[in-house]
Amino acid sequence: MDVATAQVKCLWFVARQHPGPMGRVVLVTGGAGFVGSHTVVELLEAGHHVVVVDNCINSTKGSDPQELPPALARVQTITGKTLRAFYMVSLLDRPGLTKVFAKHQVDLVIHFAALKAVGESVEKPLDYYINNVTGTLNLLEVMGEAGVKRLVYSSSATVYGVPQYLPTDELHPTGVGITNPYGQTKYVCEQIMKDLATADKEWRVVLLRYFNPVGAHESGKIGENPSGPPNNLVPYIAQVAVGKREALSVFGDDYDTPDGTGVRDYIHVMDLASGHVAALDKIFSEDFRSAIAYNLGTGQGVSVLQMIDAFKRASGRDIPYKVVGRRNGDVATIVASCTLAEQELGWRATRNLQQMCIDTWRWQSQNPDGFM
Ligand code: UD1
Repeated sequence: MDVATAQVKCLWFVARQHPGPMGRVVLVTGGAGFVGSHTVVELLEAGHHVVVVDNCINSTKGSDPQELPPALARVQTITGKTLRAFYMVSLLDRPGLTKVFAKHQVDLVIHFAALKAVGESVEKPLDYYINNVTGTLNLLEVMGEAGVKRLVYSSSATVYGVPQYLPTDELHPTGVGITNPYGQTKYVCEQIMKDLATADKEWRVVLLRYFNPVGAHESGKIGENPSGPPNNLVPYIAQVAVGKREALSVFGDDYDTPDGTGVRDYIHVMDLASGHVAALDKIFSEDFRSAIAYNLGTGQGVSVLQMIDAFKRASGRDIPYKVVGRRNGDVATIVASCTLAEQELGWRATRNLQQMCIDTWRWQSQNPDGFM
């Protein structure tokens, strides 16, 4: 058995439905994860053909190697459509990755696969640089060799560091004051992609800078499924509401914000997902060149206490909380300017805070133990 055969566990699925005439073949790395799986729903609904590559180190695997990860099986149920293929392959496995590109005429890649726990990245920086940066370098090299030079990259508002002005637009300096290795890897990968697009004019890259993704698909079948105690606010609140955790710790109430707690720009994951489809369309437009960054947010700031209140109303449950000290590396406020995405991608977020909480609660209450 050759290396690639041993390492690539390929699952083939014959398409049951005919995609639209403009269907592209889209390879999604990290497609079994939170934002990835919701984006696969939107891609399938838009008539694209989807190949997923995921090593499933941070997502639930199928019960045997012949089975799709449950998140992707549920994506198929939601959409009534079938993935072209799923490969359990790491981006660190170059031969495996090369083999995937040899099997499919990929038109564009959406690259989500990465480690993303901020605290863990401080403790294990090399894991983050290797997975996120080396993994991305492998992907870019293999894409280049296969002649696939269209890419949508899953970046983060973390590249802005401590925001110098609000709302923060794409002209804001990046790479200054980033407090953790996770954030650095997002910044470094953006730089690599910009340099590549400068050196080789055939590359067309969209860097999507997410603000704070929350919510879940409205079916309640897929959603965020953190392993261990959640690091992020909304998954933690959801687990308190469902009775899995006793109380939320609010990290500081002495910030220079209206109620003293941190203010963020939360965006519904389905709005984020549709932003990726808009980015794909943009890359295929005639005039698109080079590497361009777009913020994906709502432009609305929500404090920790406002989020607790909104979640209480959506769930009808109490959310006990206690105020503790500030968390290292947190900023008081960050809110997106989304004008560029509106003007150039024709995209804007349409779901409000209440919808984000209702959909998170539906997912959490129907799946208290995630994909089990
Ligand atoms: C964090 C990451 C960011 C990453 C994003 C992914 C940090 C410093 N930043 O953003 O790089 O891209 O997640 O979604 O970790 N909070 C509490 N109690 C909690 C959890 C959070 O009070 O248990 C507060 C935080 O202090 C903050 C707000 O809730 O004010 C949002 O926190 P979180 O959901 O972790 O997102 P970010 O810190 O904005």
